[in-house]
Order: sequence, then structure tokens, then C-alpha cells
Amino acid sequence: MELESVRHFLKGKTILVTGATGFLGKIFVEKVLRVQPDIKKLYLILRASIPSSIAERMHNEIIGKDLFRVLRDELGDNFGSFISEKVIAVAGDVSLENLGIKDANLRKDMLEEIDVVLHSAASTKFDERFDTAMRTNTIGALNVLYFAKNCTKVVILLHVSTAYVCGESEGLILEELFQMGKSLNGFSKLDIDFEMKLVENKLNELKTQNSKEETITSVMRSFGLERAKKHGWPNTYVFTKAMAEMLVEHKKENLPVIILRPSIVTSTYKEPFPGWIEGVRTVDSIAIAYCKRKLSCFPGNSKVVIDVIPADMVVNAIIVAMVANASKCSNNIYHVRSSMRNPIKYMNIADYGYKYFTEMPWMDKNRKSVKVCTFTILDMPSFKRYIFIHYLLPLKGFKLLNKICCQHFQKRYLEFNRKVRAAMRLVDLYGPYLFFNGVFDDSNMEKLEMAAKQGGVAMDLFYFDPKMIDWKDYFIKVHFPSISKHLIK
Ligand SMILES: NC(=O)c1ccc[n+]([C@@H]2O[C@H](COP(=O)([O-])OP(=O)(O)OC[C@H]3O[C@@H](n4cnc5c(N)ncnc54)[C@H](OP(=O)(O)O)[C@@H]3O)[C@@H](O)[C@H]2O)c1
Repeated sequence: MELESVRHFLKGKTILVTGATGFLGKIFVEKVLRVQPDIKKLYLILRASIPSSIAERMHNEIIGKDLFRVLRDELGDNFGSFISEKVIAVAGDVSLENLGIKDANLRKDMLEEIDVVLHSAASTKFDERFDTAMRTNTIGALNVLYFAKNCTKVVILLHVSTAYVCGESEGLILEELFQMGKSLNGFSKLDIDFEMKLVENKLNELKTQNSKEETITSVMRSFGLERAKKHGWPNTYVFTKAMAEMLVEHKKENLPVIILRPSIVTSTYKEPFPGWIEGVRTVDSIAIAYCKRKLSCFPGNSKVVIDVIPADMVVNAIIVAMVANASKCSNNIYHVRSSMRNPIKYMNIADYGYKYFTEMPWMDKNRKSVKVCTFTILDMPSFKRYIFIHYLLPLKGFKLLNKICCQHFQKRYLEFNRKVRAAMRLVDLYGPYLFFNGVFDDSNMEKLEMAAKQGGVAMDLFYFDPKMIDWKDYFIKVHFPSISKHLIK
């Protein structure tokens, strides 16, 4: 595999990006603009209820973010004109045909100009409404594929998936394509059109009953989880992402497509500076609940490897994979992960969390520091026992006292109730990842790295080898400080 210099590849190219307001999407935009200012254009598909708010979104949620401070400092007064010349915000929505781009002239220009497509948009809530997740993640991926196919000179579509499309599989998880219609549990046949029909029928049924929006949301969320579990996936998000992979692969024909599956993405390791993060995700939700003392234990297997990977490495892998696969009809899937080459265990992350939040405790609203105790990892039966003794029993007690002493215990009761619900929701959503017994094979990723090195790619700029990470250093000096600064309110 020969790899042109990445900068040379990007020069003069026009790239379509979906999901640019998201965590990964905007890191990609920043990196491309910083490493190759001679990029021709970036078209960013942004959702907006009214077209005039597109510019506002681009400023507030992308270009105006601290993430761009290195580029802003480099360009000084020219930053504004550089961005206006290179970046075009387009009102759209991936769940719609033609990506919801209404302006026919603009659409025509885009179809003629685009060389590369990065599809990063997704609904990333694990328990998203089934209709939203299907339309965004599954049908959205197909809409992006069709759009890319209509681009006259496109050389590559990179579809961002997730390593956890494998569900709760165990052992070595290969970088392999899904077979169309194959469920994970091996019992049921998965028919994507049928799933979509179920969504429409359920929505019609709810509308006929004049259900409130709140009810529709709650029913559709449960429905997604039900369908996902029926076919062997732990949640709606990974289920709809897996179906997206099936469709993309099935319908791509001659279009060069690659699927990149990151594991759990964490704050940037090095670029544009260490510790950029946005949005609370898997391990971070638990860390935040822990440092606020809402949780002191969580279920899981302490020896399990938690596969995390910093966001800048994912973006570098995206760029290098695009270059390596451009104009080639290969069947490449890439796991962007750490578990194979530099594993980190759940108990190590828990130890680093204890160390960091003991030295740098979270301050509550009264500016009082909140002391954490050691984080205990329990197996599921012990965790259930713990919840029963520490939460459910006192809850019952409060309920009883509440009846006797009227409103006196109401506040404590409600607070406890909220805590139990929050803890159980985290367990439901993230439990499968904390008992996950798989290791992501990374042969394709390794080959890509070797080819990049041999092809003369500047690996200090496009690094994505997780072996370079000292996890203790990263968690204590980069990731936990960054979640303290950016995510904890
Ligand atoms: N972050 C992780 O840990 C992780 C791990 C593995 C894989 N991934 C994958 O990586 C990709 C990026 O993830 P992320 O963390 O950057 O996600 P994110 O922060 O949740 O951002 C999602 C992006 O998708 C956009 N989007 C959602 N629905 C859309 C629609 N109908 N039309 C157009 N845009 C839409 C959002 O736009 P709005 O701002 O308008 O909502 C936002 O820009 C996703 O495909 C995700 O599945 C992420």
C-alpha cells in the first residue's frame, strides 16, 4: 500500500463533513484546516430549524470554540477571512433525502466539487428514541452514501461507526463486515425495512391515541431498547449503527468506502492541545457521579479492559485511512482502539480517579470540597445487594416516615429516589461495557500504520498508535482535569 503524503493529498480537496458540531467532527475540521491551509473547501452539514441560524451555529459550536485557539493564534487577524474562504455551512439533515439540502444550485455545486466525504453525524444517546436513531443512524448513513455516489469526483467515503457494533461479543473481535440481515443472537433474522415499518406503525398508533410528546418519547425509547435486545444488541445506538454498516456495505457498489470503528473516545492526547473534550460519555458519566459522591461503587469486572482512545488519535486515523484507501474498492474496516496494544483495566481507571479526585476534589455549589472514598467495583449480585441496603431500604423507610410525619421526609425521599434512578440508569446503559470481555483486533489498523510510516507520513503529526500513551499520566494529568474543567457543573 502506497501512501501519498497526507498533506499533499488534502491540498486542493473539497471535503463534505457531517456531524461537525459534534465532538469528533469539529476536531477533524480543526485538524484539516491547521495541517493543510491549502485545502480547497469544507462543506459542513449543520442542522438548523431556520437557515439564518446556521452561521450562528458554526460560530458558537465550531469555530468559536477553544479548540480553535491554536489555529486562531497562528492566523491572527487572518483567522476570520481564512474561515470564510474555506468553510461553508450548509443547512441540512442526514435523515432526509439529499441530506435535506434545499438549495438546488448549492447541491449541484457540491455534487460537482466534493472529493471526500466524512460521515460522522449520529444520534449517540444509547437509549435514543427508536424513530430518531433509525432515521439518523441507519437511514442517515444510507442518505450520505447515496449523496456521495452522486458526487462526480468523489474518491472516498469514510463512515464512522463504533467498535461496539459487536454488542457483547467475547474474545477477539475481528475487523470484519456484517452480513446483511444477521442478528447478533443468531436466532432472529434482522430485516431493516421491517424495523423501519415497525417504527412507523408504532408512531401512527401513538398519534391515533393522541399521546403526548412525552409519552411518545418514552414509548419510542423503550421500543428501541426492546428491538435492540431482541436481535442481540445491548442498546438502540449500537443496534442502529450496526444496521447502518450493513446498508452501507450492501449498497456501496463501486464507491470506495471505509468503515472506521472507534472504541470509547476520550479527551485529546496532544493536539491541538491535551485535554479537549465535549459532551459527557460512558466512563465520564461514572467519573462525574463518583466525584460528586453520587456513586462510590459501580458494577463491573475490575479486571476487564476498558477500551478507550483519545479523540485526536481517532481523527488522525480517519485522515490517514482516507488517504490510504482513496480511489480503491477495498473492504476495509478499522478498529481505532487501545485494548490490543496498550490495554488499560477498569480497576486502573478507578484507582487513577481516586487519586485525582482526592488531590483535586470537586467543589460543590457552596464551594465546599467533596471528599471521595475509594471506588469499589462489584460484581452484579453484590451491586444489587449494595443498592438494596443503601438505597432501597432507606427509601422504603423514608416513604413510611413520610406517611407518619407528613411532609417532613419528603425532600430526603425525593433525593434518594433521584439517586437510585440515576445510578440504575447508568448501570443499565453502561453495564455491558464494564463487563465486556472482548478485545478488538487491530490488524488493519496496524497495517495502515506501517504503510503510513513506510509511505513517509509525518507520524508525529498523524500519530494514532495507542502504545505511545502512558495511561496513568494521561488520566491524571489530562483526562480527569479536562472533565473537571469542561464537563462538571
Ligand atoms: N464519542 C465517542 O465516544 C464515540 C465512540 C465510537 C464511535 N463514535 C461515533 O463517532 C461519530 C461522532 O461521534 P461524536 O462523539 O462526535 O458525536 P456527538 O458529539 O454526539 O455529535 C453528533 C453529531 O451528529 C450530528 N447529527 C445528529 N443527528 C443529525 C442529523 N439528523 N443530521 C445532521 N447531523 C446530525 C449532531 O448535530 P447537532 O449538533 O445538530 O445535534 C452532531 O454534530 C458518531 O458516528 C459516533 O457514533 C463516537
